[in-house]
Amino acid sequence: KNIVVLISGRGSNFKAVYETSAKEKWAEIWGIRIVGVISNRPDAAGLEFAQSVGIPTAVVDHKKYEDRESFERDLVKQIEAFRGDLVVLAGFMRVLTPYFVRQYPGRILNIHPALLPSFPGLHTHERALEAGVRIHGVTVHFVSDVLDGGEIIGQAAVPVLAGDTPDKLAERVLKKEHILYPRAIRLVACQKVRLEEGTVKMDLESS
Ligand code: GRF
Repeated sequence: KNIVVLISGRGSNFKAVYETSAKEKWAEIWGIRIVGVISNRPDAAGLEFAQSVGIPTAVVDHKKYEDRESFERDLVKQIEAFRGDLVVLAGFMRVLTPYFVRQYPGRILNIHPALLPSFPGLHTHERALEAGVRIHGVTVHFVSDVLDGGEIIGQAAVPVLAGDTPDKLAERVLKKEHILYPRAIRLVACQKVRLEEGTVKMDLESS
């Protein structure tokens, strides 16, 4: 399986996936490789990390397109140029249309910093604190046409502690993201976890 990672910024999840894949020898054992990183922002820090470890990068700058579909058509072209077959969104801040989602059925993953279906969308940590929840966390899911609404693959929870700020909570959640996302990606890439007829099927005995 050839993974293409889509980023918009810092890229810490991409880095975690890359480092886990190297440590666990994904390429040697399962033939799973990160074959490219695409950013919609030319200044995304994650691009530099990719280059430093020899992963090909590309920028598809959404500001240069008149509408979402022409942007996405070029995104698809670039994913094809990398020969990607699994699309991993890692802090990719563009909403994808049904056109894009249709190109990769059951083959687009996203990580969302909240326990979905609570707090879809932006500013999840602020909103969790405002809502007064005592448990917060992160969700990895298949991407569907509904924003942050696809079938859930895995979640990890953290406590909300007295004195938390959005930043402190974000940091606690991010540590979990960096463990959960590589694991979920590996299981999907190995087809131990799949989307079948709209629901998640898991075959985890031997993982
Ligand atoms: C993460 O919190 C992720 O859950 C969200 O955006 C953030 C991206 O961080 N979708 P990074 O670019 O992976 O460091």
